[in-house]
Amino acid sequence: MNILSIISKKRDKKALTKEEIEYFINEYTKGNITDYQAAALVMAIYINGMNYEETTNLTIAMANSGEKLDLSDISKCIVDKHSSGGVGDKITLILMPIIASLNIPVAKMSGRGLGFTGGTADKLESIPGYKVDLSIDEFKQNVKDIGISLITSSLNLAPADKKIYALRDTIACTDNIPLIASSIMSKKIAAGANKILIDITCGNGAFMKDIKQAKELANTMVKIGNLAGREVRCVITNMDEPVGNAIGNSLEVIEAARALKGEMTEDVKEIILALGVQMIFMAGLTNDRLKAEMMIADSINSRKAYEKFKELIRKQGGDDSYIENTDRFTKAKYVIPVLSENSGHVKEIKTELIGNISVYLGAGRTKKEDSIDFSAGIMMNKKIGSYVEVGQPLAYVYANDEKKIDGAVKNLKESFVIDSKKVSKPKAILGTIA
Ligand code: URA
Repeated sequence: MNILSIISKKRDKKALTKEEIEYFINEYTKGNITDYQAAALVMAIYINGMNYEETTNLTIAMANSGEKLDLSDISKCIVDKHSSGGVGDKITLILMPIIASLNIPVAKMSGRGLGFTGGTADKLESIPGYKVDLSIDEFKQNVKDIGISLITSSLNLAPADKKIYALRDTIACTDNIPLIASSIMSKKIAAGANKILIDITCGNGAFMKDIKQAKELANTMVKIGNLAGREVRCVITNMDEPVGNAIGNSLEVIEAARALKGEMTEDVKEIILALGVQMIFMAGLTNDRLKAEMMIADSINSRKAYEKFKELIRKQGGDDSYIENTDRFTKAKYVIPVLSENSGHVKEIKTELIGNISVYLGAGRTKKEDSIDFSAGIMMNKKIGSYVEVGQPLAYVYANDEKKIDGAVKNLKESFVIDSKKVSKPKAILGTIA
């Protein structure tokens, strides 16, 4: 077998065998296939696609390319959650303490932000003292002790995905269903969960721009999961505007802390309920939607989820007084309103642009080595459907670098499309595939 015949087969629109896919993954992971040959194959997959069997074989080969975590000593039922990425997506910070407070074990590895999307690990690190890089033994012990641990992976999980993901980013091949499905599912399978909930973001701030693509991605992941012996459910959430109001690390932690005290925007509430219900179903607590929603509401109203979040922070070395009193977080030096130049209804928000502006302000990275400015970011003041008068703030820029303010304000103004006609608020949940 050789890589040239594999590339030419996919170039000629033929399906690859399990052996050919395994050969590519193993040899590329070992460094025996060059990046330009891998790029040619990935581009051929991007253009000509893969059937379910190929995508499943790709996923399993990627999951087997490195270490795998065994969580069976913690519980027979480990429910994991993953988002396909978005702007202002602080759902993990709110949902996981809720789930843990219902005695469903949460052992979750989260990524860092790259590109215009944020990463949960960076958000957690904005809490002074919080350690995301625990050893696997500490990680498992924390789940056994308090029912929850949120870390970044110190294991070499699905290294093939790391290489292919980085490559896709440099050859304009990120938005592709077999490649996204195998990337997400290989990591989740290697991370040990047997029940996996995927939040598939859909809209102008997500990889999936339209609902047809998002549904196809969801169906692909459910099928791959089933073929790999995992239960997978998907909820499609709207990413035509940022989630909630905050974009940026400590700003999002503050919003999450408030949400856990019951103060949440409508879209965050809808997403928490929709994802939470599916996780409760998968964990087998009930099959009744209303009962599951009541469990979530009770966890928030009784402050159990809030206390669980603080317990998690203390357990991982963080200072939970920042959650008790969010004014303790260092605030950005400059907080500048972005004033509307028109009156009218917000019709459209260019979400990816907003994500990029927050990265520009220092809230994310353009290169892996970049350090994060935890207090930088954006607070939305208006979302789709809101009415705004001339001179009212659309958003606020949180910056520490004075030189970046003008550019951020100008681009933020351009991120909002204002219309004279009334616009209805978009739904946060676009579909559920189980
Ligand atoms: N998230 C991933 O982990 N991989 C993708 O390809 C897209 C989103």
